[in-house]
Amino acid sequence: MDNNPVLKLGEKEVTFPVMTGSEGEKAVDARKFRQESGYIFYDQGYGNTGSCESSITFLDGDKGILRYRGYPIEQLANYSDYVETAYLIIYGELPNAKQRYEFGCRLRENAAIGTQMQRIFYSFPESAPPMVMLASIVSSLASYYPHLATNNFEKDLENFDLAAAVAISKIRTIVAIIYRYRNGFPFIHPKELPYADNFLYMMFSEQYETFQPIPEVIRALNLLLLLHADHEQNCSTSTVRMVASSGANLFTSITAGACALSGPLHGGANVAVMQMLQTIHAEGDDGTRFIEAAKVGSKSTRLMGFGHAIYRNFDPRAKIIGKACDEMLTRLGKSDPLLDIAKNLEQTALNDDYFVSRRLYPNVDFYSGIIMRALGFPTDMFTVMFAVGRCPGWIANWREVASNTKGRIYRPRQVYIGPTKRDYISLDQR
Ligand code: ACO
Repeated sequence: MDNNPVLKLGEKEVTFPVMTGSEGEKAVDARKFRQESGYIFYDQGYGNTGSCESSITFLDGDKGILRYRGYPIEQLANYSDYVETAYLIIYGELPNAKQRYEFGCRLRENAAIGTQMQRIFYSFPESAPPMVMLASIVSSLASYYPHLATNNFEKDLENFDLAAAVAISKIRTIVAIIYRYRNGFPFIHPKELPYADNFLYMMFSEQYETFQPIPEVIRALNLLLLLHADHEQNCSTSTVRMVASSGANLFTSITAGACALSGPLHGGANVAVMQMLQTIHAEGDDGTRFIEAAKVGSKSTRLMGFGHAIYRNFDPRAKIIGKACDEMLTRLGKSDPLLDIAKNLEQTALNDDYFVSRRLYPNVDFYSGIIMRALGFPTDMFTVMFAVGRCPGWIANWREVASNTKGRIYRPRQVYIGPTKRDYISLDQR
């Protein structure tokens, strides 16, 4: 108690209990602060607010560390694949052979989208933004699987294994159908294939018999999804938790996550990066224009794919993915001028005092688009790909909320700055 922080507010002193996370992260427990002092903490955007305790992902933005359930992202990127990592994130441990097999079976059994549900796709204009389609269609899962989505945590947790498999497996099929529909191609039914292979098959291959996945491509897709699988309390994940805290089922909660992901400052940044690189390429420029515009300080001209709300050092995912871009293109015998432009842009920014002094480094989105492009995914599908990858993180976070019998509904406060009390004026007097 002696070392606990004390805040003096006039004559009043409030002592805070201290919490320490398993990696030594310190927090003052402010839950009773308002009751004791009449004050709230103002923290716009919750940048310094711990909204929950979580045992899923550890992130140290100053040191550039990211770990899923304790395992460094670099090791998972080297040795694991997306499905195994999804299991780890959701269930807390790497699966043994039996668990891995059963998880894989559940994913395969739940890959297909039924005929009635397929009709939803036709109700969208073919020009519909993929994230808009994705959010609506994922939300509809709660109506096709009402027994998995009762809005009663106890019941929903009893069926969690199945609901999680439905979400992870179907979100990929939904994304493949969105792509096929928007391009006027017929839908392709999933086959008995591993997760990433099935994804590519449903997206791009008309003929199962002739479908021959290239190992480098499968590896790159696994890596891409794995690197996006969770990222602590980011905007979309905390949205999932917020919606879940009201008692909402898994499908509804992850739909909210998808909506949050769609914005250009979050999941939409990968599209903006690609558009920027394409513009630089088309203009035959070296990117100076974008660097100079970014330094003006306006949100709308920021250097996309640079900076991060948490990382003040390199984003470890960007390091892995930047290297993977090079390796994959070399192994496939391809080259991409956009990769060279990205590398030049990175070097210019890393030598520019504006970026150095603000500790702005490339984030995962800076290079992810180049991998997706090499895999054949068009730019407008980038953000839905991110959503597929992030699904295990959303699911694990939903589960933590649903399992916490002492959890409260998320309900932040505000500092009201609107008009003080005034009386109603009738229409004829306004
Ligand atoms: N380009 C130029 N300036 C930037 C950038 C950027 N990309 N990012 C931040 N800054 C500037 C800010 O304007 C601010 O400048 P100031 O101190 O002169 O006012 C300073 O750097 C510090 O900004 P932060 O507090 O670090 O930024 P914040 O935490 O509010 O935003 C964010 C983080 C949204 C990621 C921001 O860096 C950004 O907009 N980046 C571009 C979009 C992007 O790549 N998003 C993907 C994020 S990763 C993901 O979602 C997977």
